Amino acid sequence: MKVVLAGGSGLLGRHLVTALVAERHFPVVLSRDPACAARRLPRGALVRRWDPGGDPIAWAGELGGADVVVNLAGESVGTWPWTERRKRLLRESRLRPTSALVAALGELAPDRRPRVLVSASGTDLYEGRDDEPATEESPAADTFLARLCQEWEAAALQAEPLGLRVVTLRTSLVVAPGAPALERLVLPFRLFLGGPIGSGEQWFSWVDVEDAVGLVLRAMHDPGLSGPLNVAAPDPRRQRDVARALGAVLGRPSRIRTPAWLVRLVLAEQATLLLGSRRVWPDTALRAGYRFRRPRLEDSLAAALAASRLSSQPA
Ligand SMILES: NC(=O)c1ccc[n+]([C@@H]2O[C@H](COP(=O)([O-])OP(=O)(O)OC[C@H]3O[C@@H](n4cnc5c(N)ncnc54)[C@H](OP(=O)(O)O)[C@@H]3O)[C@@H](O)[C@H]2O)c1
Repeated sequence: MKVVLAGGSGLLGRHLVTALVAERHFPVVLSRDPACAARRLPRGALVRRWDPGGDPIAWAGELGGADVVVNLAGESVGTWPWTERRKRLLRESRLRPTSALVAALGELAPDRRPRVLVSASGTDLYEGRDDEPATEESPAADTFLARLCQEWEAAALQAEPLGLRVVTLRTSLVVAPGAPALERLVLPFRLFLGGPIGSGEQWFSWVDVEDAVGLVLRAMHDPGLSGPLNVAAPDPRRQRDVARALGAVLGRPSRIRTPAWLVRLVLAEQATLLLGSRRVWPDTALRAGYRFRRPRLEDSLAAALAASRLSSQPA
């Protein structure tokens, strides 16, 4: 299968491309910086330049004859403070590429169009709705990221009238070797300063990178799947349990609480990434018979942190 990946040079894209190459598919990555992307991707992936804000004529042809388009493009929500400018960029970096892809798909003759669009979204959509685990049927929250996820999904669903099956990946925090979000969680533990954040009562949803990739592959191949797909392990935890698990896996203490006021003082609105509650259940995946490879947080953390250690050791 020819699979075109927009934003495929990032964390999830790199793991997905590796799996696609191993399965003898033909991945084509659209990147704003092909030279840099090619250095990060495994051999066997073709990299093409695209500018989602510019004229699609230069890249739209790449979509012709593809079987699947996977859209992972978007600026990271965790790296820089959420100034108004940054929030605009977070929004535009998701909506513009998604709309550009859909517009380019619309320009293709129907018999040249891919059959499937798998497009990123996030479990932030459910933030704070944690009386019971959120399934794909649960209502959306009313926060900046929740509204953005809804707009992002709505933009992707514009491909349905073009005849594509559309799956939106409501992804939780991806546990992977070297994942920037995981590294930020782990750092205080490495410094012997780890522990619960705020009350520690808030729910934390996560997914092992192998299952994130497994679920994208399932979304690509399974004609029965369309609409939202929770990409989360069936093991949401309270944040204090996550702290305990990190301490146990790293062999470090996990009792030093970081007060919520301090997190809010430093991160302002962005504090929601640490203090917000996300209790997500992968209902659709389980009903579709997907079997999680790493369903337990401790196993996923141990695998990711062991692989990070190996890759940081001198050769
Ligand atoms: N990883 C997670 O824990 C997680 C959780 C929930 C949701 N998600 C979502 O899933 C998607 C993939 O996640 P990821 O961790 O692989 O993300 P990532 O590592 O940050 O990579 C995203 C890719 O998007 C492209 N990109 C960045 N800014 C862009 C912009 N302004 N315009 C167009 N493209 C841009 C980049 O590709 P080029 O530089 O090559 O163009 C980058 O490699 C993201 O949209 C993310 O929001 C991820």
